[in-house]
Amino acid sequence: MKIDISEITGILKQEISQYESKLDVVKVGRVVEVGDGIARIYGLEGAQANEMLLFENDTIGEVFNLEEDSLAAVIYGDYTKVREGSDVRSTGRLMSVPVGDEVIGRIITPLGQPLDGGPTISPKNIRLLESDAPGIAGRQPVRQPVQTGLKSIDAMIPIGRGQRELIIGDRKTGKTAIALDTIINQKGKDIICVYVAIGQKDSTIAEVVDILKRHGTMEYTVVIAASAADSAPMQYIAPYAGCAIAEHFMYDKHRDTLCIYDDLSKHAVAYRQLSLLLRRPAGREAYPGDIFYLHSRLLERSAKLSDKLGAGSLTALPIVETLEGQVSAYIPTNIISITDGQIYLQRDLFHAGVRPAIDVGVSVSRVGGDAQVQAMKKVAARLRLDLAAYYELLDFARLGTELDAASQRRLERGKRMVELLKQPQFSPLSVGEEVITILAGSSGLLDDIAVEATSRFATDLLGWLNQKHPDLAAEINKTGKLSDELATKITERVAEFKAIYQQTHEGMK
Ligand SMILES: Nc1ncnc2c1ncn2[C@@H]1O[C@H](COP(=O)(O)OP(=O)(O)OP(=O)(O)O)[C@@H](O)[C@H]1O
Ligand SMILES: [Mg+2]
Repeated sequence: MKIDISEITGILKQEISQYESKLDVVKVGRVVEVGDGIARIYGLEGAQANEMLLFENDTIGEVFNLEEDSLAAVIYGDYTKVREGSDVRSTGRLMSVPVGDEVIGRIITPLGQPLDGGPTISPKNIRLLESDAPGIAGRQPVRQPVQTGLKSIDAMIPIGRGQRELIIGDRKTGKTAIALDTIINQKGKDIICVYVAIGQKDSTIAEVVDILKRHGTMEYTVVIAASAADSAPMQYIAPYAGCAIAEHFMYDKHRDTLCIYDDLSKHAVAYRQLSLLLRRPAGREAYPGDIFYLHSRLLERSAKLSDKLGAGSLTALPIVETLEGQVSAYIPTNIISITDGQIYLQRDLFHAGVRPAIDVGVSVSRVGGDAQVQAMKKVAARLRLDLAAYYELLDFARLGTELDAASQRRLERGKRMVELLKQPQFSPLSVGEEVITILAGSSGLLDDIAVEATSRFATDLLGWLNQKHPDLAAEINKTGKLSDELATKITERVAEFKAIYQQTHEGMK
């Protein structure tokens, strides 16, 4: 073969003329000290607070403390792989998480890595973990309800779209159960749910995921998990990641969203650990000074957006665990003061079989009746009065005081109302069913049914009505209204069922 020299020189000349050196400038620093998930880094002078860093082998970190000649960063993931003397690259980006339809139905870490064995999530749409809460002009009042499907909550402590309602109680009092029932009740409705598990045991998280899957909720739910086995930094960013994912649907898709943070006590502990390792000064209960800001900047991001911004919403249900019912401890009081109300679960009630174990006396929703449909508002007012009178009389009755006939009647009514509000797990009711149940109780029709039979009676009543007269609940569900005629019709049907029931069930009284 003959070599054509002119051709070769031609190609070489062309290559040389087109040659440009592609210089990729990255700022590189060096790890001078590493341990317990914290790295001290030298040589990244231009780094910003909260900037994302890349260690060798692609471990992710975040700038936390900016000091005079060095900086301290936390390491996400396996920090044992980061060695002293290794390089660190700054990315110029703040911490973010993948968002969008792609994450729906997935179980992910706070950084968006899959935990369900599914495909990796492409970071096509990302959102900053931390972003500003909307201001006053960007919001509108909370008016629409988030139905939990739990009679006692929807009637007495209604939650509105865009509200922040705290679920607080001792360990094992059914806190997670309320959150899960609320998610299950959104099936076939229009709310995107985000469940953030923080610092829980892996087995507990697996159980929750199993429940969510079994009830077919994964079509509209995202689970973000940072378990007790994960590092403190990972647990610390988990709720912000959940919030960012919900925010995407609220701002960009104008959707209603629900975010559950389970739980913020463990979140506070993770942040305390992080702060102590970073040698930040410790304050009360060894928590750092900005512990209030930790939760307020998270919960302030819940909102009902104005019509101009698309009227999406983010409802937050943070969960807090108390010790021995101590609501006056540091973290509980902080979060109580940030949220728009609390559902307080009491251990004694739980063990006495009143489940959900809601202490009606100290549970409130500051949004209140505004977030209820008219039908519910109508029956709930009466219910609250009945219960308040009952608890007041209960104290007298305990003292052995003799009660007059009227008080005795109210006491009996109250006992049945308490029974009526008991509800097993995973059986959320529609608003119509809730209204009918409460109406049956407050109409006095159940007063001569044995207390222990009340709960059963109510369940059977709904079963019967759903079969014979499904139009009653359907009308309330559709219109949200309870006219006087409809109320009369319902009480008539209840009376009819009671007559049948009493014939077939001896011993009901
Ligand atoms: N309404 C209910 N009816 C019957 N059982 C319930 C009800 N709510 C909760 N439970 C049961 O009580 C137990 C504790 O509930 P759950 O795990 O929700 O409590 P928790 O307060 O979240 O506990 P932890 O402190 O471990 O987070 C569970 O076994 C659950 O099945
Ligand atoms: Mg729990």
